[in-house]
Amino acid sequence: MTSERNSRVALVTGGGSGIGRRVAEKLALEHSARVYVLDRDADASAAVVDGIVAAGGRATACLVDLADSVRLRERVDFVTAEFGPPDILVNNAGISAMIRAEECLLEQWQAMVNVNVTAPMLLMQHALPHMKQQRWGRIVNVASISGIRAGTGRMPYGTSKAALIAMSRQFAVEVAPWGVTVNSIAPGPVDTPLARANHSAETRDTYGEMVPMRRYGTPDEIADAILFLASEQASYITGQTLAVDGGFVAAGILVNDLHDDSSALKRFAPAQSGHSAGKLG
Ligand SMILES: NC(=O)c1ccc[n+]([C@@H]2O[C@H](COP(=O)([O-])OP(=O)(O)OC[C@H]3O[C@@H](n4cnc5c(N)ncnc54)[C@H](O)[C@@H]3O)[C@@H](O)[C@H]2O)c1
Repeated sequence: MTSERNSRVALVTGGGSGIGRRVAEKLALEHSARVYVLDRDADASAAVVDGIVAAGGRATACLVDLADSVRLRERVDFVTAEFGPPDILVNNAGISAMIRAEECLLEQWQAMVNVNVTAPMLLMQHALPHMKQQRWGRIVNVASISGIRAGTGRMPYGTSKAALIAMSRQFAVEVAPWGVTVNSIAPGPVDTPLARANHSAETRDTYGEMVPMRRYGTPDEIADAILFLASEQASYITGQTLAVDGGFVAAGILVNDLHDDSSALKRFAPAQSGHSAGKLG
């Protein structure tokens, strides 16, 4: 970000933990933004804000329950009246649970949709008039690879993240003439409290097999991608979904022994010379 952006106001939902925490810290400390951390966890967001302020940044914690769609508008109006409208909005907060599609209760579905889809929509509606007026704005919605590819137990979560990705595109095309961009990030597995609560040992092993980089991502790696989409430099990128996933979405079959020798290639060598099936490259 350039010095021109030193006074940007940024709202980061779920800034009390994991990915959102790193986004809030980096925006405030590396890019001099004034950051508002919207989170339902008062202690966690206070700790993040205290850390930022102690390090010389500007940050304020705002206690908000994003599941309460009715009160959300009220709370956001209060935040705006108090601190001014945002130039950057990072809809990062999300909830997740492993639930079989056939067994998902209406309450579980509604809770997931409220936090993962309805709250980002209301916050975008809230932020856009100001962004359009100043002909500059950056919105980054944190979706998931589960919004791109299906997984067992991911029906409500994956559907909510797919909706978030689709909604980002819808907003993006409507507000593009005003120089406002709306993009999604689709993180792969990232080591955060959310992942630790939802990923069993088996899930972790499975990701180990399916992610070409053979590891979880870090909150820093996701935050850096979010910060790029929130930057001046990303001015002509809108309506996109950036997977930050160690190659998960790009991958199909991964053959382990291709990582260290060519034995698998030899096994698939063509039966007849001149026949190209089975050749790679
Ligand atoms: N960790 C992963 O593996 C992973 C993978 C893909 C996508 N994501 C997405 O990244 C985002 C951040 O996830 P994380 O792993 O950092 O999670 P996290 O649980 O570490 O942090 C989420 C934060 O959101 C806050 N929050 C949750 N519900 C809220 C509500 N109703 N009102 C206000 N605040 C609320 C929590 O208090 C917490 O501070 C989420 O949208 C998640 O779906 C995470």
